[in-house]
Amino acid sequence: MDRTASDLLKLNRRWAQGRSRTDPDFFPRLAAQQAPQFMWIGCSDSRVPANEIVGLDPGEMFVHRNVANVVHSGDLNLLSVLEFAVHELKVRDIIVCGHYGCGGVRRALEDQGDALVDHWLAPVVELRRREVKRLGEAGGGDARIDRLCELNVALQVERVAATPILRAAWDRGHKVRLHGWIYGLKDGLIRDLKVSRLAR
Ligand code: CO
Repeated sequence: MDRTASDLLKLNRRWAQGRSRTDPDFFPRLAAQQAPQFMWIGCSDSRVPANEIVGLDPGEMFVHRNVANVVHSGDLNLLSVLEFAVHELKVRDIIVCGHYGCGGVRRALEDQGDALVDHWLAPVVELRRREVKRLGEAGGGDARIDRLCELNVALQVERVAATPILRAAWDRGHKVRLHGWIYGLKDGLIRDLKVSRLAR
């Protein structure tokens, strides 16, 4: 369907009116305070809208998304979001959620480009080189991409766990939990990759 930007403004008005009708206090309540229990680190892919796929309302999840849900230890954007989520909002759970068929992961597997995004994806390319054996066992084509998508989530969970933000939080007794999940574009289901990291 071809839509214009002004169509989005109309859709927004309809959405806001609908929300207010069913819950007149909804916007005043959210405007006063946000207190999400969850932080989400996911892919920018338009098919993986964080709140929607877990059925959460505005106000319930603090979200950071980037290409292939990569955690760079020097990414001020991600680190600022993470710091605010952990120190200020005191979220209970941080979820790194990748998705099968990820275009960024596919690109890292092909390792051909020298665009900015290839610099961004360098940790995934390194991961691919380290995991040649496991990727070989996965088979060819999509199975190989999907296996790298899973390994990428596990790696990024470790990288969040290794940040000074998480280490300091755990040292202070803030029991924030880290999870690694993966979303299936073909069935809309999320699988727990069982790579969770709990407070030390
Ligand atoms: Co993706």
